[in-house]
Amino acid sequence: MLKPKMEEALNGQVNEEVFSAYLYASMVSYFESVNLKGFAHWMRMQVLEEQIHGQKVGEFIMARGGRLRLRAIAEPQQDWASPSAAFEAALQHEQHITECLNNLSTLAFSEQDHATRTFLEWFVTEQVEEEANTDNMVQQLKLAGDASGALFLLDREAGQRPAPAIAAPTGA
Ligand code: FEO
Repeated sequence: MLKPKMEEALNGQVNEEVFSAYLYASMVSYFESVNLKGFAHWMRMQVLEEQIHGQKVGEFIMARGGRLRLRAIAEPQQDWASPSAAFEAALQHEQHITECLNNLSTLAFSEQDHATRTFLEWFVTEQVEEEANTDNMVQQLKLAGDASGALFLLDREAGQRPAPAIAAPTGA
């Protein structure tokens, strides 16, 4: 059974993950509006990942006898100055999510909730990849600079990003 403090914090994480999906959906719209369909596809895959993350946490709350309480989702930013600015915002957001997960893990440890602490290990590991993938895009866009040919190639490569695997809701 989840303790109230842990349940509250996990519900907060569901909101963070659903907001992440919302933010990246807004980036899909931005990239479509500037005709960068490959980057839009990359962000669509990111939306799917975040939906899976939100669902995993929600299912975990319910599996532990807690109550999933869905909260309002904040309005995400709608426009960015450039593709680089959008990916930099995505990286900053992932760093924020990493911090949220670190705080959750610390709480699970201090509450001696080892089931939650173990559950969160998957997310902590996943964040390494999430930050690395996004940072890779930031770095490549920096290298491309103002060269439209390089941007075209990067956009095409981003369009090849595969869909995330659909895992069992509370599994890895
Ligand atoms: Fe759910 Fe991108 O972290």
